[in-house]
This record gives sequence, C-alpha cells and structure tokens, in this order.
Amino acid sequence: MGVWKITGGNKLYGDLRVQGSKNAVLPIMAAAIVTGCETEIINCPQLSDVDAAMEILRHLGCKAEREKDIVNIDSRSMTCTDIPRDLMSEMRSSVIFLGAILARTHEAQLTYPGGCELGARPIDMHLDALKRLGASIDERGGKLECRDEGLLGARIVLPFPSVGATENAMLAACGAKGTTTIVNAAKEPEIVDLQEFLRKLGAEVSGAGTSTVTISDFTPHAHVGHRVMPDRIVSATMLCCAAAAGGAVTLHGVMPDDFETVTAALEDMGCLVERRSKTVKIVCDSPLRASKLITTRPYPGFPTDAQPLLMASCLKAAGTSEFTENIFENRFRHVAEMRRFGADIKINGRTAAVTGVRELHGAEVNATDLRGGAALVAAALGTEGETLLTDTGHILRGYEALDKTLTALGADVSYEPEEDESLASAM
Ligand code: UD1
Repeated sequence: MGVWKITGGNKLYGDLRVQGSKNAVLPIMAAAIVTGCETEIINCPQLSDVDAAMEILRHLGCKAEREKDIVNIDSRSMTCTDIPRDLMSEMRSSVIFLGAILARTHEAQLTYPGGCELGARPIDMHLDALKRLGASIDERGGKLECRDEGLLGARIVLPFPSVGATENAMLAACGAKGTTTIVNAAKEPEIVDLQEFLRKLGAEVSGAGTSTVTISDFTPHAHVGHRVMPDRIVSATMLCCAAAAGGAVTLHGVMPDDFETVTAALEDMGCLVERRSKTVKIVCDSPLRASKLITTRPYPGFPTDAQPLLMASCLKAAGTSEFTENIFENRFRHVAEMRRFGADIKINGRTAAVTGVRELHGAEVNATDLRGGAALVAAALGTEGETLLTDTGHILRGYEALDKTLTALGADVSYEPEEDESLASAM
C-alpha cells in the first residue's frame, strides 16, 4: 500500500508540461500487433498501465522496450494468441488486445476482464462488434475462446458510443476483408489518435471524431513512428488542483479544445482561464462560486473521468454544486472519502450535491480508484493540515510523477511507495 502525504494550504504557482495520454497509448500499443512491424511510440507516459501493456506484448512474443519517453515495439516475432489471467486482471483495458490479436492471428484466448472499481463494466458491445465481423466467441468459466475463418467487413451499430468497443472494432476491422462501418462510434479525441496511428500502420480509416468510423483497406507498413497526444484528463486534473489550492498554473503542450468543458466549468466558478494554441493558464486568486449542474456524457460532453476532479474544486465554493453521473454506475466512491475532509456532499441516486464549506481539514483517506484518488490529492491541497492518502496503486496507473509535479508547483506532497514498488523501481 503506497502512502501519499499532503500538507494542504500552499497555493500552486508555475508551469508544467502535460504527459502523453494513457487512454490513447493503450489502444495504440494493442494496435502495434495488428500487423508484424516495428513501432516507435513517442511521448509514452511512464505508468503502471503502460508497463502492464508491455508485459502483455512480451507474453505474446513481441519485443517491447522503453527508453525514456519512447517505447519501441517489434511485433514481427509475435507467436502467442492468449493472455493469461494475471495479465488480464492487472489492467481492465487489456480487453482491447482482443480485436488486435484476432486481426493478426484469427484466434485469441483471454480471460474475462471482470468487474472493476467503477461498477460492472461489461464487454458485451466489444464481443457483439467482433461477432458482426465474423468471429465466433465461446464464453465459458470466465474464459473467452475466439476464432474466425477470416474476418469480413460489416456494419456495426453500437447501442452506446463505448470508447473501448469502438477501439476494439477498429482494431479487428484492420484484419477484415472489405469495408467496416462503425455507427454510433465514440467520438473521444483518443479515437482520433488511434485513427492517426492506424493510418501510419497502413489502414484506410476515416471518420474518427464523428459518430461514423469507416475502415476499408490495409496495406501494411514495416516501420511506424507516432507521437501520443497529450493527456486531457491529466490536464483537467492539474487545473482542478490549481482551483482547489488557489494560485496560477500554466499547462504546456496541451490541446485545449479536448478539455474545453472542464475549463468552461472552472471559468463559471470564477477562475480566470487563458487559452492559447498549446497552452492553458489558470488563475485562481479569489474565492470560487458553486459550479452549475455538471452532467457527464460521452465526448464532447463533460468527461466522467473529470467528475471527481471538478468536485474536489467545489468543496469550498460558495453555494451548492450538482453533479449527475451518467456513464458509470459506481462513480461516487470518492465522496465518502471527501467527507472526511469536512466536505458537505449529499448523494441522491445518480446526483451528488456539494455545498461549499468555509474550511476543510486534513484527514486519513483511501484512494478508491484512479481519478477518485487523484481527486483526493486535489482536495487535500485545499485543506488545512496533513492528509495521509493510502493507495493500492490506482494513482500510478494514470499519473506520471504526480508528487514531483505538484512539489515543483509549490505543494507539500510526498509519495512513499509500498516496498515491492520501490524494489521494482530500483531494478
Ligand atoms: C474508457 C476510458 C475511461 C473512461 C471511459 C468513458 C480507456 C482506457 N478508458 O473506458 O477512462 O472513463 O472510456 O469515457 O480509454 N459498456 C457496456 N458494455 C460494453 C462496453 C461498455 O455496457 O461492452 C458500458 C460501461 O459499463 C460504461 C459505459 O458503457 O457504463 C461506457 O464505457 P466505455 O465508453 O466502454 O468506457 P471504457 O472504454 O471502459
């Protein structure tokens, strides 16, 4: 169990460069096996989820090596078609490898990724999409046995614009003959980054960023280089940390349009936000007012991942802020922990009402999930006194050196990894 020690009360000042996107790089790493090739992925964040994806690639027989922020993958040597239970359970989004393995080898054996901290998170849409392309999938005893006699392009209509199902369908479609059309596709910026990467690999893909994505042909390329897009949720996190703590912070190397809904909400609350083409500056030097109703929706709506983070900025804001969570069934687990700081939050079904309090105090809290954990760090920055935040590794799944980044901005934050983690990083 790692422990974050945060002494609140310091305002944040300074500049930072935002890491590459976790949710973009994971499907891109899976895409690297769609054909046998050498891939150089630049701006690859140093995260435990990325390490888990590298482990999966190595298990499959690929080479995967990191040098600083570059991950090199050679998938020509891929021999295996299975992902064992321990690797599947390390990262829920490992299911994204299913479409990629099928595209390459026409058979795959995985264990069911199962539930997670945000609720049940089924994969029915992923499997239905692959079946539409001609895969037969046998689900027994938590195992998935998939094979096909040659995938064929098809029209796939998703009942909900699932990010993962859109990505899985895109990857499998790269191994299909003929044209695949994904209708009601997710429009998230990470899908656009995946499209860019697949084009470099040799796929004819269009429509990413709209609700219809088409994949029509594949002419494999041997060497591919790609720079991963900046992480819009990390960008949102740093803005919310500045709003919770006060101060003035400039983010560099970001794509401001990708997290416009978050900056707009912070502006409504009284923060000053200056956007340029690749930078966003936030200034929070006066007390904030409550946020208007925040309703999470698929992109371009307000991101569910930023819901706990914006909530952290609202804990002392004057008035009552309301949040309605529409994407995941169990995404208010951070609320019970935020109450330990003295926050006044009431939950009614899918809605949480946060009434700003004058003061918050440090507390002993527990990271409930990745973004919920980061939200507790943000909230702790705005408290008086010391917080001990215990974490079984959630935050490291998505944030590279968050303790050092915040310290450089003037926060009093340290992270003590659990023994196994510190040994691993020493090796
Ligand atoms: C991705 C992101 C995650 C983000 C989420 C929503 C990655 C690695 N993760 O997760 O950070 O919070 O998008 O923006 O990119 N669903 C089904 N059946 C399915 C698939 C999804 O019922 O087959 C449901 C889920 O349970 C959830 C909703 O659809 O309630 C949205 O899920 P989805 O868009 O698929 O999210 P992920 O791809 O898992």
